Amino acid sequence: MLDVETIDSILAKFPQPKGNLIAILHEVQNHYRYLPEEELRYISKRTGVPITQIYSIVNFYNRFSLKPKGKHVICVCLGTACHVKGAEKVINEVKMKLNIDVGETTDDMKYTLEEVRCIGACSLAPAVVVDDTTYGKVTPKEMASILAKYK
Ligand code: FES
Repeated sequence: MLDVETIDSILAKFPQPKGNLIAILHEVQNHYRYLPEEELRYISKRTGVPITQIYSIVNFYNRFSLKPKGKHVICVCLGTACHVKGAEKVINEVKMKLNIDVGETTDDMKYTLEEVRCIGACSLAPAVVVDDTTYGKVTPKEMASILAKYK
């Protein structure tokens, strides 16, 4: 159901919404952990920005999601340095433990698994980011205990 109050309060922070669409979408996503369609349509109506333009921004930046994400987002880096240091085994451990693939969310909405290409922490390879915390030199065994922290 459309949450007018939340969107209005976000829009109120941006007197010039057209020039701040990315920041607005960011706030909306932080609130819902994704970008709900009805809310995007409402933003379009309120700001006068065509919905097609909003969708092209959303689709351009892969940090935006149109699908609900889990409470915890696990990003495994599969960039070159991490790949060389065994990131594939780490991501396989997550897939096996949570029974989901990359881009999927567990049925209980607790975890979403994503892959990224280099987070700029190559000296920590293989690196994993869970929510806002970065873990370095992660082994598959450590990955299992990291997951256990996020219940
Ligand atoms: S390749 Fe993984 S942090 Fe750079």
